Amino acid sequence: MKTVDTLLVVGLGLIGGSFAAAVKSAGACRQVYGYDLDKASLEEAKALGIIDHGCQSLAEGLAAADVIMLAVPMLAMKPVLEELVQCSLDGSLGKKVITDAGSSKRALLDAALEVFGEMPDYLVPGHPIAGSEKSGVGAAKANLFQAHDVILTPLENTDALALETVKMLWESCGAVVTDMDLYHHDEVLAKTSHLPHFLAFSLVDTLAGNPDNQDIFRFAAGGFRDFTRIAGSDPIMWHDVALGNNQAVLEALDEFTEGLQVLRQAIIEKDSQSLLGIFSRAQSARQHFSSLLESRKQRVNTLPDASVVSGGLSGSVLLEDHEIKKEVMEGMKESTQAFIVSPGGAISGELRVPGDKSISHRSIMLGALAEGETVIDGFLEGEDALATLKAFRDMGVQIDGPYQGKVTIQGVGMHGLKQPEGPLYLGNAGTAMRLMAGLMAVQSFDVTLTGDHSLSGRPMNRVVDPLSQMGATIETTEGGRPPLKIKGGSRLKGIEYHLPMASAQVQSCLLLAGMYAEGETVTVAPGIVRDHTNRMLSGFGYPVSVSGDNGCRVAIKGGSKLTAARIDVPSDVSSAAFFMVAASIAEGSEVRLSHVGMNPTRSGVVEILQLMGADITLENESVVGGEPVADLIVRSAQLKGIDIPERLVPIAIDEFPVLFVAAACAEGRTLLTGAHELRVKESDRIQAMADGLVALGIDAQPLPDGMMINGSGVSPVSSGKASGQKPVFNGGTIDSHGDHRIAMSFAVAALRAKDDIRILDCANVATSFPDFAGLANRAGMRIVVTEGFEDGPC
Ligand code: S3P
Repeated sequence: MKTVDTLLVVGLGLIGGSFAAAVKSAGACRQVYGYDLDKASLEEAKALGIIDHGCQSLAEGLAAADVIMLAVPMLAMKPVLEELVQCSLDGSLGKKVITDAGSSKRALLDAALEVFGEMPDYLVPGHPIAGSEKSGVGAAKANLFQAHDVILTPLENTDALALETVKMLWESCGAVVTDMDLYHHDEVLAKTSHLPHFLAFSLVDTLAGNPDNQDIFRFAAGGFRDFTRIAGSDPIMWHDVALGNNQAVLEALDEFTEGLQVLRQAIIEKDSQSLLGIFSRAQSARQHFSSLLESRKQRVNTLPDASVVSGGLSGSVLLEDHEIKKEVMEGMKESTQAFIVSPGGAISGELRVPGDKSISHRSIMLGALAEGETVIDGFLEGEDALATLKAFRDMGVQIDGPYQGKVTIQGVGMHGLKQPEGPLYLGNAGTAMRLMAGLMAVQSFDVTLTGDHSLSGRPMNRVVDPLSQMGATIETTEGGRPPLKIKGGSRLKGIEYHLPMASAQVQSCLLLAGMYAEGETVTVAPGIVRDHTNRMLSGFGYPVSVSGDNGCRVAIKGGSKLTAARIDVPSDVSSAAFFMVAASIAEGSEVRLSHVGMNPTRSGVVEILQLMGADITLENESVVGGEPVADLIVRSAQLKGIDIPERLVPIAIDEFPVLFVAAACAEGRTLLTGAHELRVKESDRIQAMADGLVALGIDAQPLPDGMMINGSGVSPVSSGKASGQKPVFNGGTIDSHGDHRIAMSFAVAALRAKDDIRILDCANVATSFPDFAGLANRAGMRIVVTEGFEDGPC
């Protein structure tokens, strides 16, 4: 890391103080000088060890500094610049570098134009997106900017070296630095930060000003508290923001007022459809935002643990890395969720698990590209499917809902998508990324697909390679990982592609691209893969030809169109699997799982459990919207270990984590082979499950392509003990690695545990199974979810 000799921080409040503390703690400069009109702040900064030297005048500090950070309120910026211009700004290597941390860049530009007559090339405008409702140097923290964004808004004439120096200093604070157009910055911040602060101030002021409202403070619940927390921020600073960024703030207020008027009118007219439209769109956008925060949390998670801060600095604001990590996690307040599951219990009742994830993704994609209105019932309101929904909204498709599983899409036709304003963020959803890669490769515009920490580590070459053979231009990061930068305007040609692995995502990606390609696209899979894409394409009137052993050869010709359809999404067999295993292993259980998708390319879990001796019967079998469904009745049974036939692997691929739990409860050995794909799912599911099982006392041995488990379960179903079933698992703590299916599988294991099982990193359960814990508890399990928090202030 390059270092600066002397940094001068002008303005020792929360931001200036934290910047000084962070740079000093990182060792990115030799010494930090501070200056503040308020002598008490200066003294406090010295006493806390935030600065090395407190300057008595600005001129004194300027004479010594190489880099000057202006962290003063926005309206103080101009007088400070006026003082600066009186002094020499020549440094040892040319001009001294000046930067700032104000939240309106336009205000800085205007001040600079008035004082200097132009924007000096050595002045680099910047803005950290971090803060606290606390103010003053006493609240300063060396970790305030860790894993937070910092936006720099250089102009065309900004000196490259000056920009580089400022960037280096922010990065030394652990910030993620992004460049942005200066005017765009002000518009974005007006909406995302300034507007919410003004609404919070105004709401509290309006309500508090009315004596009839005094009870609101006595009885204020979470909603009021959460919404108004930021009204505790520094009034002077926000006064300056309101005036400094007045143009963009007024535009944001006008836009918001218009939205509020629409809501008001809908309430007056008792217009339920509009109200539900507003609330459900907002809910899904907020959920999407939560998953973005989750990915930021992942970024913090990768911070190194417990290395000692260099330099031997003293003072409470300077922390060790492990403390920083802990505090940043708490500060971001989107904490890792954990499940604490009590041992024992039985499963009963009639349960309807949420809609099928694979079908939900596809219904949005095809509905968006169809002509006419597509109505979907039973849509999965989980984060993965919502990420797909949001991505198509970002490409200009009008989508209403989901509301109680209902989604209505006004299709834009095969060529009606619009370029999104920024990258499409797909969260944890591998299916969304791989299928959309095919659809995006044939659009006329460029698109970037990004995802969370887990998705960013998953292999995308399996779709990028064949798409490139068809003529697509896609850039990945090293090793074929996301983000995918997809060039628009490519004309694709059909190819015959023999998939190296039995992957429905790859096959579906190519079929979707094939709708736009010249000629025929033929895909041949080496085994059975889920066939929802072919079924749904046919349902939307797009011809597909299916042939070969088990329908493994699927071909499509480009140039036809999709016509809107009604879709009834069955319950997800992959989600139902947790309750199939739960009821099988817990004595005295009997459960009805209703309306479960029984597509033969997905139902391997039922066949495997039956081979293991499970008591599962099917009732009410029917076909809904081209997909077979049934009610499943599952009763507890003594399971036995088996060698799982390899032909069943691709059609039960997502269910192995919970099948491993079943195997641990079975009598005898279970062997799985031919399942190498499990290593590249949301986590390495072979390793993650083996580690967890071993930690709970199970004899489980991971294999390169599967697992061997010596089951220890002898159930009282056969032994007839009245004292309850014999526990199989010890209690303990399990890392789910943020993998939804690993988390839910170990929750099921608790039914046969001696003691509590505590499962870490469970927030991603919401990607496929929102309210899993609620449904499981209603069925007889005992899961306590340690709450996630709201995001911290910035
Ligand atoms: C899916 C296909 C499977 C599966 C995934 C969903 C789909 O992945 O594991 O959860 O919807 O097409 P592969 O295609 O990688 O086997």
